Amino acid sequence: MTDPQDAIDAAGDVREAERDPRIGERTAGEIQDGIPFIGAGPGDPGLLTVTGRELVETADLVVHAGSLVNSELLDAYCADAEQVSSIGKDLEELIPLMRDAYETGRSVVRLHSGDPAIYGAALEQMDALEHEGVPTYLVPGVTSAFAASATLRTQLTLNGVANHVAFTRPRGETLDPDEDHIGEFVEMGDVTTCIYLGTHAIAETMERLVEMGHDLDTPVAVVYHASWPDEDVIEGTIGTIGERVAAAGYRASAMVIIGDAATGAGYERSYLYGDWANRGTDENESEADD
Ligand SMILES: C[S@@+](CC[C@H](N)C(=O)[O-])C[C@H]1O[C@@H](n2cnc3c(N)ncnc32)[C@H](O)[C@@H]1O
Repeated sequence: MTDPQDAIDAAGDVREAERDPRIGERTAGEIQDGIPFIGAGPGDPGLLTVTGRELVETADLVVHAGSLVNSELLDAYCADAEQVSSIGKDLEELIPLMRDAYETGRSVVRLHSGDPAIYGAALEQMDALEHEGVPTYLVPGVTSAFAASATLRTQLTLNGVANHVAFTRPRGETLDPDEDHIGEFVEMGDVTTCIYLGTHAIAETMERLVEMGHDLDTPVAVVYHASWPDEDVIEGTIGTIGERVAAAGYRASAMVIIGDAATGAGYERSYLYGDWANRGTDENESEADD
């Protein structure tokens, strides 16, 4: 097998030189040849897409993201398939596993939590597989920030409150301190900041925000295991949430949402169902929120 980094570099060179002919010919949601990289959604089996479910139900081998893919989903849709957790396996182990199964004619699916496009490390697996001659494609899923938003019965963008959303993660092994932009997003005021991979670091993240001079009363909601049977919601502020989450004992698997939109309070009615609806012009003329 080719060194995965060499495969990634080669794929990057090809992308720079020419557009993948499948772009524009294949739509997202279309079942294609090869191994699908499927977003399993946040946990509840009902939040897997119809296409994702169809693919998982017909799979012989399901390689999944371990504890973040709800075992209820695996039991419901692929109890008879061979199931392999990707936790603790490097590319050198994962790629031959999927390649060999695919080449022997087995139906293989790769199941990522949420949507593979967010902190999923899917592309490197896809590039390495394609380098080995195995076609791949993506099937989107519901990212955990959207599930948390639904749990909180709010919107991440909210008229007069939040015009932007940041999907981010805190500094740590992967991010250097100067690559941690949480403070900058919060500083912008009308951004809802959704922190992935940061449950263990909530207290220190909040301490940094306090040191930067952010308002202690800025709302923060933490949704643990959004859409799972043991889902839990802890609400507070920059000043209080660290202690509350520590008391609950959560160190992983939670979505942290910072900003006024987390509460759903204080917004204004939208232009869409106000002046825009009554403007009396061609409805295809411009885009509006839906
Ligand atoms: C490696 S990232 C994968 C994110 C995933 N691709 C997504 O779109 O949700 C794992 C992080 O996603 C968040 N996460 C995943 N599933 C979650 C859930 N059901 N509830 C809350 N947060 C979740 C947590 O912050 C966790 O640390």
